[in-house]
Amino acid sequence: MNILVTAGSTREPLDPVRYLTNRSSGKMGYALANAGAQLGHRVTLISGPTHLDIPINVDYVPVETAQEMFEATSIHIARADAAIFSAAVADYRPATFAENKIRKSEDRLTIELVRNADILGSARTEFRYEGVLVGFAAETENLEEHAREKLHRKGCDLVVANDVSQSGIGFDSDHNEVLLIYPDRTESLPVETKEHLAHLIVQAVQELRIRKG
Ligand code: PMT
Repeated sequence: MNILVTAGSTREPLDPVRYLTNRSSGKMGYALANAGAQLGHRVTLISGPTHLDIPINVDYVPVETAQEMFEATSIHIARADAAIFSAAVADYRPATFAENKIRKSEDRLTIELVRNADILGSARTEFRYEGVLVGFAAETENLEEHAREKLHRKGCDLVVANDVSQSGIGFDSDHNEVLLIYPDRTESLPVETKEHLAHLIVQAVQELRIRKG
């Protein structure tokens, strides 16, 4: 299979020295890319900035902003049999980019934000993608309910749901605990290393690919 993986956070620049981002380390996405390559698939990894080593035997596409990730995905998804969206894409970016460093002046500074495109949400519609589509859901409450809503709204075959309010799993941890949300059932994968879970997720993707034909 050709597998596309998005990973890491995006950076949304505010001025030449500042940006908005989030706590994603890229570990979950890189583990998925590694697992895909180890299981014999051709993997394209579209990644925001991380401190991780680039996985071997993977086509690596570095990006910085959500808009760059959107554009790279729109190109590479065309030849993917399965696409796994584990990146923590910034939902908003600063409305304007200041050419020069913003200087201290008033006690309060208001930054206007505008919505970024939903890359996963564009897969079935804008990109006309028909392969196996796997989203992630990072939730802090009502994990299964919110993840299932994302599964339907974004046309996914599977959503991997994690509770990012718990310490020791989720963002920046070496471990995770996830629910696999399918249209007709939910499977629970207890706390494990991200490497181990990534193998189980890629195996689930392989089965979805076989069933989809
Ligand atoms: O990188 P780590 O430190 O290892 O942490 C892993 C993780 C917690 C980041 C990962 O397991 C995870 O949950 N990734 C999804 C994070 C997220 O942004 O979730 P969300 O519920 O906000 O988004 C839902 C889905 O839409 C995700 O597949 C996301 O990639 C996608 N999305 C979101 C917004 C957007 N503009 N474009 C997108 O494609």
